[in-house]
Amino acid sequence: MTAKPILLVTRKFPDAVLERAARDYDARINQADEVYGPDELIARAAGCDAILTCSTETYSAEVLERLPASVRAVATFSVGIEHFDIEAARKRGLVVTNTPDVLTDSTADITMLVLLGAARRAYEGQRMLRENQWVGWNPNQLLGVHVSGKKLGILGMGRIGRAVARRARGFDMTIHYHNRGRLDPELEQGATYHADPEDLLGEAEFLSINCPASPEMHHFLDARRIELLPERAIVTNTARGPLVDDEALIAALESGRVAAAGLDVFEGEPNIHPGYRDLPNAFLLPHMGSATLETRNAMGFKCLDNLDAFFAGREPPDRVA
Ligand code: DGY
Repeated sequence: MTAKPILLVTRKFPDAVLERAARDYDARINQADEVYGPDELIARAAGCDAILTCSTETYSAEVLERLPASVRAVATFSVGIEHFDIEAARKRGLVVTNTPDVLTDSTADITMLVLLGAARRAYEGQRMLRENQWVGWNPNQLLGVHVSGKKLGILGMGRIGRAVARRARGFDMTIHYHNRGRLDPELEQGATYHADPEDLLGEAEFLSINCPASPEMHHFLDARRIELLPERAIVTNTARGPLVDDEALIAALESGRVAAAGLDVFEGEPNIHPGYRDLPNAFLLPHMGSATLETRNAMGFKCLDNLDAFFAGREPPDRVA
């Protein structure tokens, strides 16, 4: 019997994922679920053939250089790959895979949740009830922003952006979008394309950020671009925190220039900008886009499918390096 490949599992992923990993690999599971810093990651990877990881660990060029030579493949439990220096991984000959598709629906669902939560002042309503401040129905109480019939600007019309568009059409929203390239008509589904993302902002009564966090898009939504949005627009971000300049968005929420924001992701998370905490018009979630058991299991199984393919000598289906 040939020995099973040795797999470092850097987090305590859902039970079904860990069970399958332990069945098919000599799995070294981080049962304590403490986040490994670079030195610990490198030390724990000694003698391992592969790593099952996620976005809480960073694979910079320096980390990749120091990673033991025995490690030939890394499967990340995420669709986002900004925690990898992909070029450095390629140079080192490391196979890297991610988890597209399986989290599309849950992330689009959470986008609608934060969009509606922000527009309809859900946080303030919750707080009123929980703090026993509700004195009864009132015709002017917590009046929000109407959603139906509004224009939704989607920045990044990949799988998740398109799934957001499908849901938003159910709310009678009109879809505008920017993407690196214009989509084919069957994917566009009547949405209006803006080749220049700044033109999209001018239309976006609601703005949904759904693009990857590339270096060129760092702080895309800054003070100048916020001024391009319609007065009292609503902003949602379920992609990555660094796409937004927090100082600028917080100032716009404080002044009312932006009516409300629904945010599931933050720069520097979990240490979010403290300015968000006291803003009643910020509807905040702790990076929950893919957080359903079905989705998280599917993400883990996809990682293992990719590793299985790699160790069987086949091309991993979700290879990004
Ligand atoms: C992803 O898959 O990229 C999610 O944001 C979880 O990190």
